[in-house]
Amino acid sequence: MTDKTKLQVKTCDELKQQPEEYREACEKLVISHAINELYGGRTYDDPAIAFAPTPYAKWLTCRVAMEEYGHHVRFFELGRQMGIPAEKMLPEKTAKKPLSVFDFPLTSWEEFVAIKLVVDLAEILQVEDLLHCTFHPLRNLARMTMPEEKFHAQFGLDFGAELVKTPEGKAKLQEAVNKIFPGVPAFFGRAKSKNNEIYRKWGIKLRSNEDMAADYVKRGAEAIRKLGLQVPDIAVAAA
Ligand SMILES: [Fe+2]
Ligand SMILES: [Fe+2]
Repeated sequence: MTDKTKLQVKTCDELKQQPEEYREACEKLVISHAINELYGGRTYDDPAIAFAPTPYAKWLTCRVAMEEYGHHVRFFELGRQMGIPAEKMLPEKTAKKPLSVFDFPLTSWEEFVAIKLVVDLAEILQVEDLLHCTFHPLRNLARMTMPEEKFHAQFGLDFGAELVKTPEGKAKLQEAVNKIFPGVPAFFGRAKSKNNEIYRKWGIKLRSNEDMAADYVKRGAEAIRKLGLQVPDIAVAAA
């Protein structure tokens, strides 16, 4: 039996020697990141380039899209090194549904700014939770990804600050925040989730879904208030 308190898995080769429950948990996490990064990039970041109102905004949106595709590529490559079949990490080839937060088509620049403001903050929390992961390749990937996710959330704040300068821009951004923010806590998964329990048992993740969702609601509200917007009512699943 592995001593879980001292468990540190440094390479994909070492992963192969770990108990099935540990390997499967790492695989699930890598698959979910690979799928959601690609789905998010395709559904929002890529189409947002066309909505970006100025060359400067297009330039930075291209950078965001490049980085989101890059996140998919890095998780995908790690997954391949772990022996995960390629088709399990591509949304069109798997039955696994992307997160419900990605369930609507992008229709405006304001929606994209709201997504970066509140959805990428949720990504930051997810990545933070992997910074001390006992599977080191995943931890390293989280550390590499973190500055880029922070840039995306800052992008939301910066372009949000531009939009709120006009009453029309502010109203549209508020409408987009109202539409998007309440759906984001679901991104953290159900309370008392069995998967989450396994992640924590093995030190793959640190926090419970409900703990992260509650923290997210607080931090999301702060970001929304920073722009002088109203925080929409939000119901968080009881722990
Ligand atoms: Fe990402
Ligand atoms: Fe992002």
